[in-house]
Amino acid sequence: MSDEKSTLTVDLGDRSYDIHVGKGLLANAGDLIRPLLAEPRAVIITDQNVEKHWLGPLEKSLSAAGINHESIVLEPGEKTKNFEELQKLCGKLLDAKVERSTMLIALGGGVVGDITGFAASITLRGLEFIQVPTTLLAQVDSSVGGKTGINAPQGKNLIGAFHQPRLVLADIATLETLPDRDRRCGYAEVLKYGLIGDAEFFTWLEANGKAVLAAETKACQHAIRTSCQAKAGIVADDEREKGRRALLNLGHTFAHALEAQCGYGGAIYHGEAVAIGMVMAFDLSVRLGLCPGQDKGRILAHLKDLGLPVGVQGLNTQGWSAAKLIDLMGQDKKVRAGKPVFVLARGIGQAFVTDDIDLDDVADVLEEYLKP
Ligand SMILES: NC(=O)c1ccc[n+]([C@@H]2O[C@H](COP(=O)([O-])OP(=O)(O)OC[C@H]3O[C@@H](n4cnc5c(N)ncnc54)[C@H](O)[C@@H]3O)[C@@H](O)[C@H]2O)c1
Ligand SMILES: [Zn+2]
Repeated sequence: MSDEKSTLTVDLGDRSYDIHVGKGLLANAGDLIRPLLAEPRAVIITDQNVEKHWLGPLEKSLSAAGINHESIVLEPGEKTKNFEELQKLCGKLLDAKVERSTMLIALGGGVVGDITGFAASITLRGLEFIQVPTTLLAQVDSSVGGKTGINAPQGKNLIGAFHQPRLVLADIATLETLPDRDRRCGYAEVLKYGLIGDAEFFTWLEANGKAVLAAETKACQHAIRTSCQAKAGIVADDEREKGRRALLNLGHTFAHALEAQCGYGGAIYHGEAVAIGMVMAFDLSVRLGLCPGQDKGRILAHLKDLGLPVGVQGLNTQGWSAAKLIDLMGQDKKVRAGKPVFVLARGIGQAFVTDDIDLDDVADVLEEYLKP
């Protein structure tokens, strides 16, 4: 596999699909997409920030390949992932007279990908869609694996469907216009793969993390390819999260509680919550005597070095309590028989899933973070 461009496959039988990772892929998007179309027609869904930089190049490439296209532009941000916006989006698709053979293309970050994928799964009982992720987070995580959905007032991503894309095109060039804060958020999910099962990748990130954040091509190519490979393997094994796929939720039981507590107005971004949540998961693992303290120390040092949050400082935590956060964890999807499921670790690269955790230990960990 070349270092500049690579193709991976998510192996799901007749629903298998390719992930292309490379710089400048948007220019070839039309040629890569055309063979997948039943009719030469696509509807692009994007947001206002992505529209400014990347809609033009994608449209140009589709036109050059003889694909008719129109576009729908959403408001940016997590608050778009709700019922009202979903309804509007489905309405616009129907107004555009989409047919079963019309391809949807999600051009944007995880928000655009999640809501577009979900709209695709329910409109006309199921349209096909393609992911063109433009954030680091979406390129390494949300565009791969077929989880789609929106948030509910009760919690993150509680309404949704499994609906696999037909293709994923991750153009590294799009990261050049991504704000620093969003690059760091994506980085949290990259780091997650190292912490789950790849200590060697974690060590590589310790040395190369800054180059990834600077959107340097070679470093991004390696980080995105390694991440997608890890995710593709897990998804192929356990598409519907009956077992191993739950490992990908490292840090997420904590993160979802933090996000629900903060509301979806942008006080905390998903990746930031994941960074804090992963530290909390390692904290809990250390507290339970499962994991050496120095592993947690390495993670903390690395996150701080890259400017990612490792605690709740800076958030308005008035009125928060460990009990409330635990209650929010109980609203998460990852609950078995009423007990939140945690991903803990025996060390860096050695994560495992358990629902056998005494919530008093979780409360002790959270209280440490909430101390003024
Ligand atoms: N489906 C899954 O498996 C899965 C996995 C992880 C995360 N998620 C979801 O993904 C979402 C977070 O995704 P995200 O971090 O990509 O957020 P996002 O889609 O909100 O994008 C972040 C910001 O960057 C802007 N942006 C996107 N691409 C840009 C570019 N190339 N240049 C300039 N600006 C750009 C967006 O407009 C937005 O303001 C959360 O809702 C999370 O729940 C889903
Ligand atoms: Zn995540």
